[in-house]
Amino acid sequence: MSLLLRRLKKSFREPDGNPLPIINIDHFELKQAEQVALVGSSGGGKTTLLHLISGIHTPDSGEVIIDQVNLAGLGEPARDRFRAMKIGYIFQTFNLLPAFTALENVLLGMSFSGQKSNRAHAIDLLDEVGLKHRLSHKPSKLSVGEQQRVAIARALANKPKLLLADEPTASIDSRNQNNVLRMIRDVCKEHHVTLLLVTHSEEVARQFDRVETLSDFNKPEELLATASK
Ligand SMILES: Nc1ncnc2c1ncn2[C@@H]1O[C@H](COP(=O)(O)OP(=O)(O)OP(=O)(O)O)[C@@H](O)[C@H]1O
Ligand SMILES: [Mg+2]
Repeated sequence: MSLLLRRLKKSFREPDGNPLPIINIDHFELKQAEQVALVGSSGGGKTTLLHLISGIHTPDSGEVIIDQVNLAGLGEPARDRFRAMKIGYIFQTFNLLPAFTALENVLLGMSFSGQKSNRAHAIDLLDEVGLKHRLSHKPSKLSVGEQQRVAIARALANKPKLLLADEPTASIDSRNQNNVLRMIRDVCKEHHVTLLLVTHSEEVARQFDRVETLSDFNKPEELLATASK
């Protein structure tokens, strides 16, 4: 799917109530099946941007247009449905459900999208991230890198059209990092999935044809300037 951000603005509040502008993007576009690495300094707003694109957060103003649908104009249930059906999200903090095993976490990723649970496909995905021997482990019994790989398998389980990956290989050793990254990119290529992948790793970013630095197109300081006029 294609993605278009237009005049997108998001501020949080400081503890003292003052506005804290984080996102101010005039225009940003991803074409269908494009694979883009997003880099930028810690605290710059990368995770916030992925939350806005996925409809987890709503912008203060502006548009998030995914295949002609303005996600920012939908109510929360419709956004949740849209995300479950069309978007895969690999969270920076994994967000696995602690009471469920690795396999069950992946199966739940399928069931939220209304697909029939496909156990064989879930096992295949876990196999592809190198976790076939850990299907019945709950997250607390998995290493951090293993939890991250369950999160990757889960994000792919609903066969998304847009994959948002927030530092998806940050907790994985460099050899496995390359394998897992290759797997993510191959799945996206094969199924024409649009990929936006946040990374702090130059080695990871180097593998992408298009690398975007958030501060090149996100200008939150301009919101402060207009607010104080
Ligand atoms: N709910 C919130 N309320 C107030 N401030 C927030 C909230 N969420 C994020 N922020 C602030 O927004 C800024 C951007 O956070 P974000 O998580 O998007 O950064 P990031 O670019 O993903 O950083 P990192 O590379 O460390 O993951 C941070 O300074 C953070 O303190
Ligand atoms: Mg982040």
